[in-house]
Amino acid sequence: MALFPTYNRFDFSISEATGTIVTDIHGNKCLDFGTGIGVCNLGHRHPAVQKAVEEQLTKYWHVSNLYKQPIQEEVAKGITDNSTGDYVFFCNSGAEANEAAIKLARKATGKEKIITFNQSFHGRTFATMAATGQEKVRDGFGPMLEKFAYATFNEIDSVNKLIDENTAAVMLEVVQGEGGVIPATESFMTELATVCKKNDVLLIIDEIQTGIGRTGKKFGYEHYGIEPDIFTLAKGLGNGLPVGAMVAKQEFVDAFGPGSHGSTFGGNPLAMAAAKAVLTTIFNENFLQDVEEKATYLNEQLIEHIAPLSFVREIRQKGLMVGIDCKANVSSLIPKLIEKGILVLVAGETVLRLLPPLTVSKEEIEQAVTCIKDVLQTEKVSV
Ligand SMILES: Cc1ncc(COP(=O)(O)O)c(C=O)c1O
Repeated sequence: MALFPTYNRFDFSISEATGTIVTDIHGNKCLDFGTGIGVCNLGHRHPAVQKAVEEQLTKYWHVSNLYKQPIQEEVAKGITDNSTGDYVFFCNSGAEANEAAIKLARKATGKEKIITFNQSFHGRTFATMAATGQEKVRDGFGPMLEKFAYATFNEIDSVNKLIDENTAAVMLEVVQGEGGVIPATESFMTELATVCKKNDVLLIIDEIQTGIGRTGKKFGYEHYGIEPDIFTLAKGLGNGLPVGAMVAKQEFVDAFGPGSHGSTFGGNPLAMAAAKAVLTTIFNENFLQDVEEKATYLNEQLIEHIAPLSFVREIRQKGLMVGIDCKANVSSLIPKLIEKGILVLVAGETVLRLLPPLTVSKEEIEQAVTCIKDVLQTEKVSV
């Protein structure tokens, strides 16, 4: 074994994947309700994405960002035409997108403090680790990047207490993903947007998990009728090809002038080809309407079959982002669920997280709910 053991890996090795189905090296098939942690939003090897990448493979694979790349312009326009943002910086991951957002916020405002939230997750680089409101992520890595402060999610007073004249931005996920699938309340988001505006503080939304149709809207912030100054994307944007994006409003363009920030691979043409196909497919009214309908159907199934189980505390859902909060630690259930034929994720200690492809069928939803019920109904709650 020559890999650092940074992941607790399950004994499941994929040999092939199509749509919602992954097949392991022994030929066992599983429903993929984790989609590589919210990445393959269009399912595995979606035909439009596959075609776009194959076509790009025959043209060129990489040139430096010192040269113009029309495909980057096209993807950037696909994002800005469909969002409140005006300018896009491409990178390769979620952490890099958030890193760019933090850098831009500091440079554009000349202020230093960034307020984030307990239980948030923003990445594993030094800046994004400092932004992440989870002690276990920072443990053992020495002094963190300074001037990060953590407020309590959904409590506006905790934000008010931390805001001062040195505050550059408040940064948050509209649904905390890794933290346990916890949606922001509407009143909190409305108040937060007002507080930020009043205090001249930027609002950064981390849409890395919630963006690109995951919650039934193009971007999660749309549920709240607010406009972020900056938002970040990754995961679903490339449907499996590594790409990240930091998107900001017009007034911040000068802070990221030539030489201020960069990435060798950012905006790689293969990733851009995938992203272009993803945006064309998902940013379509019928597609998103269909996602909302599937989300409603999944919710009905969960309420009927899973919510009544004694092991289950609560079900939280925004679009096709679901948390089944249980009364005990759930990590030991994952191998049992794999045996039943489904891959799901864990968030926090007690939450089973479902992030099915947005292309999932009703039959697959029914099969998934049956698998989960079979496993959860045998779990005993110790008091
Ligand atoms: C909300 C959020 N932000 C940032 C990240 C970090 O993304 P990456 O792992 O691509 O660096 C993640 C990853 O899970 C995430 O869920």
